Amino acid sequence: MRLKDRIALITGAGAGIGRASVMAFTREGAHVVAVDVNESTAAETVALARGSAGEAVVFRADVSRSAEVQAMIRFAVERYGGLDILFNNAGIVQNGTVTETPEDEWEQTMAINLRSVFLGCKYAIPEMRRRGGGVIINTASVAGLVGVRNRASYSASKMGIVGLTRSIAIDYIQDNIRANAICPGTVDTPSLRQRIAQAEDPEAARIAFLARQPMGRLGTPEEIAALAVYLAAEESAYMTGSATVIDGGLSL
Ligand SMILES: NC(=O)c1ccc[n+]([C@@H]2O[C@H](COP(=O)([O-])OP(=O)(O)OC[C@H]3O[C@@H](n4cnc5c(N)ncnc54)[C@H](O)[C@@H]3O)[C@@H](O)[C@H]2O)c1
Repeated sequence: MRLKDRIALITGAGAGIGRASVMAFTREGAHVVAVDVNESTAAETVALARGSAGEAVVFRADVSRSAEVQAMIRFAVERYGGLDILFNNAGIVQNGTVTETPEDEWEQTMAINLRSVFLGCKYAIPEMRRRGGGVIINTASVAGLVGVRNRASYSASKMGIVGLTRSIAIDYIQDNIRANAICPGTVDTPSLRQRIAQAEDPEAARIAFLARQPMGRLGTPEEIAALAVYLAAEESAYMTGSATVIDGGLSL
């Protein structure tokens, strides 16, 4: 087991990549605080993880709010005695070019996708220092590396995550804290299915999503979770400040 008795906190744990990561981390023996703004879906995730080598507990928090982020970190420390791994994964997608994006949507995307990473790291790093080190993983996107049409606020937030990850990696390297970003392509998650279902012509939207994929298929949450396990484990001890692309060739 690669994460035996490691203490991890995973945000966005109620669905998609976050849920698959809670499953993968507990399979590898970790104690996981499964955080989501939606307490019932996070509780479903925890129930699914029951019986694995590690364990998971639910904590409800909106990661864009400082008091709630501080509370989730405190909960992990009080429950398990510290924090080894912070996986900032929660995020939302809003479509639109700059001229089409309402100011409040811009603020919301920045708060949920980017400020959450700042806040999570701000309050987790002192706890990691106390333990002599730690690992931070941030979910960015290929939209955090290359220009993507019609995703102005989303791309800006994800590019911000890549920059912040690199700053953290270099600022805390002497504290034995590693920080890496994951840049997925298009992953088959409930939110993606919902976006396709809500399109004017869902079948045409599904075909369009697939047509953009060089491999002819989408990624799976489990494939992204497997990368997160690797980045959390000792095997990746020489990696920090990376923005690892996992996109089936989408950004090539
Ligand atoms: N699915 C993709 O194709 C894809 C591609 C690249 C990057 N990503 C990124 O991966 C991450 C996870 O995406 P997913 O597709 O699994 O999404 P998802 O929508 O399936 O799951 C996201 C989870 O985050 C939770 N969440 C949303 N806002 C929150 C908040 N303010 N506080 C706490 N929790 C909150 C939701 O309740 C949900 O359970 C996101 O950061 C997303 O931007 C996804």
